[in-house]
Amino acid sequence: MDWGLKNRISNIIKPNTGRTVMLAVDHGYFQGPTTGLREPRKTIQPLLPYADALMLTRGILRTSIDADADIPVVLRVSGGTSILKELSNEGVTTSMEEAIRLNASAVALSIFVGGEYERRTLLNLSKLVDAGERYGIPVLAVTAVGKDMARDARYLGLACRIAAELGAHIVKTYFCEGFEKVAEGCPVPLVMAGGKKIPEKEALQLTYNAIHSGAVGVDMGRNIFQSEAPVSMIKAVRSIVHENTTVNEAYELFNSLKNEEVQQKVPASKQAASV
Ligand code: R5P
Repeated sequence: MDWGLKNRISNIIKPNTGRTVMLAVDHGYFQGPTTGLREPRKTIQPLLPYADALMLTRGILRTSIDADADIPVVLRVSGGTSILKELSNEGVTTSMEEAIRLNASAVALSIFVGGEYERRTLLNLSKLVDAGERYGIPVLAVTAVGKDMARDARYLGLACRIAAELGAHIVKTYFCEGFEKVAEGCPVPLVMAGGKKIPEKEALQLTYNAIHSGAVGVDMGRNIFQSEAPVSMIKAVRSIVHENTTVNEAYELFNSLKNEEVQQKVPASKQAASV
């Protein structure tokens, strides 16, 4: 692997633990102003110190992240569809030249294995890897799962393996029963997507299960920014990923930090009234 490519991957997957906590805030590229992300700057800024990398589009990067922020960027470069139409019909929306201009540490693209436009998205991935290899920019492939697909180890194992075979340097997929089989069959680092918001303890359990079944980390969005205490939640996720804490220890950490964080969000006038 070329030095530049290796160096960029090590910006994302931290060499001291071999793991990563990526914060995914790219949801708006097909679903618009997502709950918890309506004002991206407000949501993202307090979380930045605790994320190892940020996954987002160029629009949110330019408008909501200061250029002097100390955070590796995984730039979402696939899209062109919305929740109103067939989602698998994605193209590449951002050039490699633009990714370099934005100092991206990696680019990210979704593949839709089994989807209506499966072939198109797989060829998009291959071409993106060719361009990435040319400039030393790693490609993260996201295994998007259509409504009709079962999120089981057989399907996710197929999608992850195809992504790796086509040259993806990192693969992002969902957790499932038998995840270790998915990880075994994927010869590149695997990160877990969080999925829909679930109670914090369950999301921490998912994180623990993924890490202990072969994932190198998480690329989590809604289970962090839709939490009532997002900073406490990302700290708890980090403790599992980087410090090997148990689910109970991480949940205790979340609870011990949560009240203070929630309290800080209450306007001063209300705080005074409740005393
Ligand atoms: C979906 O394709 C987007 O890439 C999101 O980044 C991804 O779903 C991860 O976010 P969440 O943890 O909210 O599922």
